[in-house]
Order: sequence, then structure tokens, then C-alpha cells
Amino acid sequence: MRVVSTIQEVREQVKAWKKEALSIGFVPTMGYLHEGHGSLITNARQNNDKVIVSIFVNPMQFGPTEDLASYPRDLEKDSAFCKSLGVDLIFHPEPEEMYTKNFCSYVDMDVLTKELCGLSRPLHFRGVCTVVNKLFNIVKPDRAYFGQKDAQQLAIIRRMVEDLNMDIQIIGCPIVREEDGLAKSSRNTYLSQEERKAALCLSRSIKMGQALVEAGERDAEKVIARMQEEINKEPLATIDYVKCVNGLTMQQIEHIEGPILVAIAVYIGKTRLIDNFMME
Ligand code: PAJ
Repeated sequence: MRVVSTIQEVREQVKAWKKEALSIGFVPTMGYLHEGHGSLITNARQNNDKVIVSIFVNPMQFGPTEDLASYPRDLEKDSAFCKSLGVDLIFHPEPEEMYTKNFCSYVDMDVLTKELCGLSRPLHFRGVCTVVNKLFNIVKPDRAYFGQKDAQQLAIIRRMVEDLNMDIQIIGCPIVREEDGLAKSSRNTYLSQEERKAALCLSRSIKMGQALVEAGERDAEKVIARMQEEINKEPLATIDYVKCVNGLTMQQIEHIEGPILVAIAVYIGKTRLIDNFMME
């Protein structure tokens, strides 16, 4: 497994692989890898000749008061993890490699990026779309893997690829959870012992909402109210949003039918966590 930090090195490697007609699977990440990332890598490993993982804490997708500086980083551990899963190349650039001095081009998107996380993180998805587009241009993958944990991000990337005619297959992978239900996240490391327990209100509320819809409840407001009630039982939790939206457009719905996404964002102390369930 190679670990490289320049765009040039990735380009040369990719060129050599393409010359041999080898397919490339790509998993973009911000590092501090866990089993959630692992499931994406494993999926990529099974379906491509070569697997590239990028590890880049993208400054552009963090707001001015967010956790860019404190975001956890551990390249050594991440490298060992990637190696154990059969990754061929890690791309780990410095911010200066990705954003040169006069950088001023962005990939922006309407509608989808304005809802859910876009409301409390107004420039977040512009940063995500821009960096993912750049990474796609560098890696030129056949397939790219994203987690349903970030359901809005996945929907936005699918939209971007379709709207901008990118010749890349986007594969969505299910949420990987801790044994007690908490969705795995690099940000879980911020939680104190007490907060870690409190954070279970997210998955409990998701489970409850899902059970209600599966049992036939079609009134979105009722589902949301029950989910909010469950989260509000937890004194350390502050709701950012609990919403039921169309799974493709991210627009809020009242009646549950077709592809839906029920998504939540909750502060546990200072840490903002997200979770969701989707239904066809
Ligand atoms: P990051 O948070 O590191 O996540 C990288 C990928 O792993 C995303 O597609 C995310 O949905 C997926 N993932 C994270 N936790 C997961 C879990 N518990 N189960 C399944 N998949 C999970 O998302 C980003 O980085 C960035 O926004 C990025 C796309 C790399 C652009 O900077």
C-alpha cells in the first residue's frame, strides 16, 4: 500500500492503472477511520481492481465556529487500518496542496443543500461538493462509495454527479453502528462517558420512528413528535432538527409515502451528532 500526499503522485499511479484497464474504487474520508469507513472500503475492495482512500480534513466544509482544529487525526492508525483492508493507495494531501493561494472556484447546489444540515451549516455542502469534485478529478474513479450515515451528503453527491454528467457510479452503503446502537462517527471521540450514554437517545429515537412507520403510521408530524419526545427525555441533548423529508429532494413532507428520509441532528453537550433512517 502506498501513502502519497501530492496530486501528481496520484495522477501518475492512476494513469498506470488505467493503462492496464484496471477499475478504480474510491472512498473519500476525513480520516480517524472506524468500521463505518471500513464497510465502504470493504465494498470497494470487493468490486474494483484497485482501491484508493483519501484522508483529508477539508477546511472548506467547516464553518468558522466549527471543529476544524480539533477534528481528530491519526494517520498512522488509519494507514494500518487501510492496509489491513487491502487498500492500494492512500491520498493524504495538506490543505495547501488542495487549495492553492488564488483558489476561487466552487461547486454550489440549490434546494438540496438548503435543508436539514444546510440550515445550521450554510456553506458546508458547498465545501463538500467542491472537494469531492476535486477529488473525483484527481482520482478519476469508476465507483465512489459514500455512507447512508450522511444521507443528505449522499443525496447531494448523487445529484451533483447526475447534474454535472460525471462518469462515476455512486454506491451508498448502510449505516454501521456500535453494539448499543450509536451510529459510528469520528466525532463520537468528543463524548465524555456521561455524554456517550446520553448519545443513545439518537439511535433510540431513530428506532422508534422507524418502528412507527413500519407499523403503518403515515402522519409525518406524529412520527416526528414521538421522536422529539424520546430525545427530550435526555437532559444532555439539544435538538437541532428532527425532520421527515422526501428522500430525493430533501423537501419536508407531511404524508409519508415514496422514498423518505427521517433525519435528526442533536447536540450532546457541545458535540453535534446525526442519525437517520430511509424507507422506499
Ligand atoms: P467522513 O465523515 O470521514 O466520512 C467518510 C465517509 O464514511 C462518508 O461517506 C460517510 O457517510 C461514511 N461513514 C461515516 N460513518 C459511517 C457509518 N457509521 N456507517 C456508514 N458509513 C459511514 O463525509 C465525509 O468524511 C466528508 O464530508 C467527505 C465526503 C470525505 C468530503 O470531505
